[in-house]
Amino acid sequence: MKNKREAKPDLSTLAVWGGEEGIDKLGATQMPVVKSVSFGYPDVQSWLDVAVGNSPGHIYGRNTNPTVKVFEEKIRLLEGAESAVSFSTGMAAITGVLFALLRPGSRVVSIKDSYGGTNVLFTDYLPRYGVEVELCDTNDHHAIEVQIRKGCDILYLETPTNPTLKVLDIRRLCKVAREAGALVAVDNTFATPINQRPIELGADLVIHSATKCLGGHADALGGVVTGSKTVVEEIFRFKEITGSSLHPESAYLLIRGMKTLSLRIAHQNSSAIQIARFLENHSKVEEVFYPGLKSHENHSVAASQMEGFGGILSFKLQGGYESVERFLPKLRYVNLAANLGSVETVAGPPATTSHVECTPAEREAMGIPEGLIRYSVGIEAIEDLLQDLNNGLSQL
Ligand SMILES: Cc1ncc(COP(=O)(O)O)c(C=O)c1O
Repeated sequence: MKNKREAKPDLSTLAVWGGEEGIDKLGATQMPVVKSVSFGYPDVQSWLDVAVGNSPGHIYGRNTNPTVKVFEEKIRLLEGAESAVSFSTGMAAITGVLFALLRPGSRVVSIKDSYGGTNVLFTDYLPRYGVEVELCDTNDHHAIEVQIRKGCDILYLETPTNPTLKVLDIRRLCKVAREAGALVAVDNTFATPINQRPIELGADLVIHSATKCLGGHADALGGVVTGSKTVVEEIFRFKEITGSSLHPESAYLLIRGMKTLSLRIAHQNSSAIQIARFLENHSKVEEVFYPGLKSHENHSVAASQMEGFGGILSFKLQGGYESVERFLPKLRYVNLAANLGSVETVAGPPATTSHVECTPAEREAMGIPEGLIRYSVGIEAIEDLLQDLNNGLSQL
């Protein structure tokens, strides 16, 4: 694939080639890591042309960088967006969206069980700046609609949610948000564009913790926001001024990871449903949360907006937190760690991962049981993972 495309390429092809066409790679087949902090020009006029945006190029690493640009283009193409801006982490991306677009007196409508860090922005930081935040019951679409109609500047969604894998109807909520003049941002970290493309469903902005499935190897932090040119420009300005820029070395690792995104996600989709079914039928497991299961309360919405249900599931062990403490060390093919979406299977309870910021009472109020385990399926052979889980459960 050189510069011209006849037909729209498949997402798997875009994940490999996207953003890399027509780029000067100095003859290399892989995008080099450009570490230079600044970019020099032979004369002031050509420098000024780039500085004011009249010609392409880079000025200073806090603003833009060639390696970082390739990463942004790749995810922009996969999400089908006009523009993309990257950040040092997923939390920096979420902060960028909220703080760039909200003002004192603005109103945000969101859900009660978004990622723990996002929840802290909603409950602690935004109110300090006079932003009103209404957090709704995630499963009550009607209540969310009522709150949007009361006045809403940003409708902030995360679906599937972390860690209980609740699913929001993006099309339905975007329609109401549009009528109310609200902008819709969707955290698409769990789904990835391979499984779900919120812009096609009506959203304005898509956010990722690239640290997770996009990079896929647990070796680079990063965040990214995609959306329309005008809105992304405002968020870019906040990023360049506050300086939470993605490091070129991380951008390189994320680019490399994304080349296998569709292979990894297909494998993880397939393994996760098999694991979810196995756990659902196990006597030591009280409940399994996975949108691919027919028993999942939002299965039909998930099936209508997702092409795969993702590699992350959670399950509640009989015996609560004590069982979690006994069970997890019995697993062989797992990192007990605060991450997800990587090639290795990762597991942990919300108390040490997604909701470490919350007290047990707060987790309880968010519907997160203390006996829950979040299990992010890697790319190991499914037979080995099933045997591993079976072995661990049989020792409880
Ligand atoms: C859904 C979701 N969004 C955002 C984040 C924050 O990303 P980061 O750790 O890259 O800041 C996480 C982290 O776990 C997450 O799970």
